[in-house]
Amino acid sequence: MRLRKSVVMVGMMGAGKTAVGTALARLLDVPFLDSDEEIVRAANRSIAEIFERDGEPFFRLKETQVVGRLLDGPPCILSTGGGAFMSAANREMITAKGVSVWIRADLDLLWQRVRHKTTRPLLRTPNPRESLRAIYEARVPVYALADLAVDAEADLAIEAMARRVLAA
Ligand code: S3P
Repeated sequence: MRLRKSVVMVGMMGAGKTAVGTALARLLDVPFLDSDEEIVRAANRSIAEIFERDGEPFFRLKETQVVGRLLDGPPCILSTGGGAFMSAANREMITAKGVSVWIRADLDLLWQRVRHKTTRPLLRTPNPRESLRAIYEARVPVYALADLAVDAEADLAIEAMARRVLAA
């Protein structure tokens, strides 16, 4: 299939943007790209190290640059970090050059998926469950601005999710 526009996966940490995006790219036989991965590769440091050494504002700047550069390339499936869609400038770029898909998952499912991972700097707090809840509450109204929303379910296989995105 020939994509006319990039499909941009947005949504919370743990929603499954990368897994579903990878499966969707395979289904459509188009390239898959991940903005976090590109930032890590360019900086030669992990996301946690970038947050720690350079600070979140630096990470956000890199995120905007990377998302812009990837959207200027040939159409692809692009997975973005959970905060990328929060910036109005990023949203404008994404909306102009791609189709945004919110992978919508409820807080319990997100928590189940991220609770044992230590890679996410925003959850390295004394009460990560509460931090996740606060981030979720603040972001849901913004994710709702995406072009499409697709629900994630605990038992739904990744391939089935990718088919849901395709159907939407
Ligand atoms: C972030 C989500 C992470 C990563 C960074 C910040 C966020 O990506 O970009 O830790 O602000 O929600 P994932 O959504 O892929 O975990």
